[in-house]
Formats: sequence, C-alpha cells, structure tokens
Amino acid sequence: MTVVTLGAHILDVLARPVEGIPDGQGTVVVDEIRATAAGAAAGTAVALARLGNDVVSVGAIGDDDLGDLLVAVMTRNGVDVRGLVRRTADQTSASILPIRPDGGRPSFHVPGANLTLTAGAVGPGLLAAASVVHLGGPDVTFGLNDPAFFEMLAHARETGTVVTMDLLSSMPDLLDGAAAFLPHVDHFLPNEEQAAAMTGESDPEKAAAALLGRGPATVVVTLGSEGSLVATAKGVQRLPVVPVEVVDTTGCGDAYCAGFITGLVQERDVLESARWGTAAAATVAQGLGSDACLTDLDGVLGLLK
Ligand SMILES: Nc1ncnc2c1ncn2[C@@H]1O[C@H](COP(=O)(O)OP(=O)(O)OP(=O)(O)O)[C@@H](O)[C@H]1O
Ligand SMILES: [Mg+2]
Repeated sequence: MTVVTLGAHILDVLARPVEGIPDGQGTVVVDEIRATAAGAAAGTAVALARLGNDVVSVGAIGDDDLGDLLVAVMTRNGVDVRGLVRRTADQTSASILPIRPDGGRPSFHVPGANLTLTAGAVGPGLLAAASVVHLGGPDVTFGLNDPAFFEMLAHARETGTVVTMDLLSSMPDLLDGAAAFLPHVDHFLPNEEQAAAMTGESDPEKAAAALLGRGPATVVVTLGSEGSLVATAKGVQRLPVVPVEVVDTTGCGDAYCAGFITGLVQERDVLESARWGTAAAATVAQGLGSDACLTDLDGVLGLLK
C-alpha cells in the first residue's frame, strides 16, 4: 500500500518570532530557526511518512545544496525519493518564512524547479501501483497539464488507485489551469481562497458544489481557523478545528491532506478521514514548520478523544 505524492517540492526556512525586518545591518536574536521539507507534495509526503505510510515522492528539484538538503530531510523522515529529478538550470524551490508572534506567516518564495516538472518524470507503472496518488500543487507544476499525464491517471484509476489533489498558489491564472485536473480526481482539498478563485463563488459551500460538478466525488474546503467543510453528493458537513495553542500554521493544509489520505488508506469513510486530517493539522499548528509536533498516528488520533 504505497502513497505517491506528486508535485511541488519546497525547502522552507522558518524563523520565529519575527516582528519586522531590522533597520540597516541590524541582527535580531530569535527563539528558533528550522529548515523543513514543504510544498504540497514534499510536505505532505513527510507528514504521510510520520503517520506510518509508505511514501514515494515525485517532483523536480535543483542540482544544488538546497536540493541536497531537501533530499536529506525527506530521506531522514522515511520518504522514498527515487521519483525526484534534479535540474541543473533551475534552483530548488524555496521559501523564507518570518513567523510573527501571532503565528502570521508572510513569505519570500522562489518557484524554481517546480515549474519544470513534466509527465516524463513519472516512472512507468508507479501511479497504477499506488493505493493513493496525491497531486500536490498541479497549479504550479503545470507541466503535468498534459494528455500523456491524464492518460497515466486514468489508467491508474482503472486499476483501483484513488487520486487526491491539493493546490499551492492563490493566483487565478494558475488555478484556472488546475481545473483541467478535476475530472481525474476523486477527492479535492483546496483552501477557501482557492475554491473561490476557481469558481467565482465566495461562499465555500457554493464553491464546493460547483467543484463537485467538475468530477471529484468529494470536495473538502479548508477554512483555516474556522475548520473545514466536506461536500459530497450526500450533502455538506462542517468540521470545527481541534482547539490548540497555535504557534505557526505553516503546512496545516499539507498535514490535513496527510491525515485525510491516511484515513482513506485505512478504509475510513471521507468524513472520518477529514477528522483525521483536522487532527493532523491541529498537531502541526502547535510548533514551527510544516512537520512540527507530528510524531505518529496514535498521537494525532489522541487529539480526537
Ligand atoms: N488556528 C488553528 N487551530 C487549529 N487548527 C487549524 C488552525 N488553522 C488551521 N487549522 C486546520 O488546518 C486546516 C488547513 O488550514 P488552512 O485552511 O489554513 O490550509 P491552507 O491555507 O491550505 O494551508 P497551507 O498553506 O498549509 O496549504 C484547517 O482546515 C484546520 O483544520
Ligand atoms: Mg494549502
């Protein structure tokens, strides 16, 4: 039972707490600086591995020091990185995130090698052999918007593979492109802003209904501190957050996906899987970085008791 995460791979460097950029050459001593594997494929891959899944990650990174570090972090967490291709002309995608005392997370970002991922990087038979394929940010890995890739997904689904999808950006042009993937997706997990941008509906329930009409059997819209909603043909259910002391919400969306997919792999229904996602997201909100405080599935499910 392998999960394949396919898409955006980003090296995050985070510092907290940061109130502002100091004047001139000033230095501010902070409590903590971390480097983590992030992005809707790499971050979800690490969270899935922590939750006990076998994970193969597919993506494009640079042939550079940032790429070596990203590979090391993923490998250390037990993710199989054989699906990563190294580019010489593009740097590894990276973000610098100064986390505010209230958990706010502005960022500086280089898209880098993520923009070069194509269907040619996906090994033959890999998707069909997976129990779940998670498309992590096809809005930025738009090279996958290709009939050859859609054929691979269709073949995988015929052999029983379940396809999930999350997005990375909030840019309308990129999100329009991601709509092409919807007919090939079973469970779609955008955040509120992305769902609104893709549908023109600011009400997340209406946005979810519109997205359900484009292919997926389930649309889960995440609503930040307001929780999430799970929409299927049977109707809409709202799930509140698990209340926790929030340090940094970076990667909450990725952790949500990882918890949700773990539920699917363990044959839970979509609502129970969404509860697992909610608990995984609340776990990582309690520390700095997209993998914070995430140890194992028992720890996550303990939050639901
Ligand atoms: N303050 C919070 N307390 C507890 N849980 C939270 C909080 N903020 C977010 N979450 C959980 O994380 C989930 C995902 O959050 P959000 O909607 O912000 O995702 P996102 O915008 O996709 O984030 P990401 O940048 O990681 O992709 C929410 O549905 C919720 O369950
Ligand atoms: Mg997200």
